[in-house]
Amino acid sequence: MPAAADRAAPVTVITVDGPAASGKGTVARRLADHLGFAHLDTGKLYRAIGLAVLRAGGDPADPDSAVPAVQTADLSTLSDQDLLSDEAAQAASRVAAIPAVREGLLQLQRDFAADPPGGLPGVVLDGRDTGTVICPDATLKFFVTASVEVRAERRHRELLARGEQSIYMVALAEMNERDRRDSTRAVAPLRPAEDAILIDTSGLDTEAVFAAVLRHVAAALG
Ligand code: C5P
Repeated sequence: MPAAADRAAPVTVITVDGPAASGKGTVARRLADHLGFAHLDTGKLYRAIGLAVLRAGGDPADPDSAVPAVQTADLSTLSDQDLLSDEAAQAASRVAAIPAVREGLLQLQRDFAADPPGGLPGVVLDGRDTGTVICPDATLKFFVTASVEVRAERRHRELLARGEQSIYMVALAEMNERDRRDSTRAVAPLRPAEDAILIDTSGLDTEAVFAAVLRHVAAALG
C-alpha cells in the first residue's frame, strides 16, 4: 500500500453529511463502490464508543466514561451488528456531544481520508461533520436530508424489518430528539458546509438519489 506521500495523485475526497435516516449512508456506500473508493461511515465510530460505554455500565453523556472509550475505537470492529441498534444510536449522539471524544476521533478520520486502505484513489466519508470539520478541503461535498417525518417513517420500517419493536410516534420523537442534540451541540453541530450540494431525499427513492448524486460527481470530476 503506498504511503500518503508516495501517492502519484492526490486522494479524491467526497463527503456526505446529513441527519439520521436521510439516506446518506446508502448513497455514500454505493458511490464508493461505483467509483472504486474506500468508504468510512463515521457514525459507526461514535456508535462503537457509545456501545462500549453502555456495555461497561457507564453513562454515554459522562466524559469520564466516554473519553477513555475513544481508545477502543477500531476500524476493524465497525461491522458489529449491535452498532445498528437504536440504543447504540442514542448513546452515539450523547458521546458525540463531548468535545474530547470528537477531538480523539479527528486524526483517525483524517488519516483514513489522506491514505485510504489498499492504496485506493479516493474516499467517501459519511457523517455529520465530514465536510465542515474533518475534511473542509474535500473535493466534493454533499448534504443529504429529508423531512423529519419521512426519516422517522424510514427508521420505523427499518426497525420492523429487523424484527425489532417500533411505534412510529416513538421513532418520530427519538428522531426529533437526536436532531436537536446533533444540531445544537457546541462542537461540530450538524449543518451543511457552505460549499455542499444539498440533496433532499423526501420524495425520492434510492435510485433517484443515486442518479442525482452521480450527475454532480460527473460534473465535478469528469
Ligand atoms: O449516522 P449515525 O446515525 O450512525 O450517527 C450516530 C450519531 O453519531 C449521530 O446521531 C451523531 O450524534 C453522531 N455523529 C457525529 N458526527 C459524525 C457522525 C455521527 O456526531 N460525523
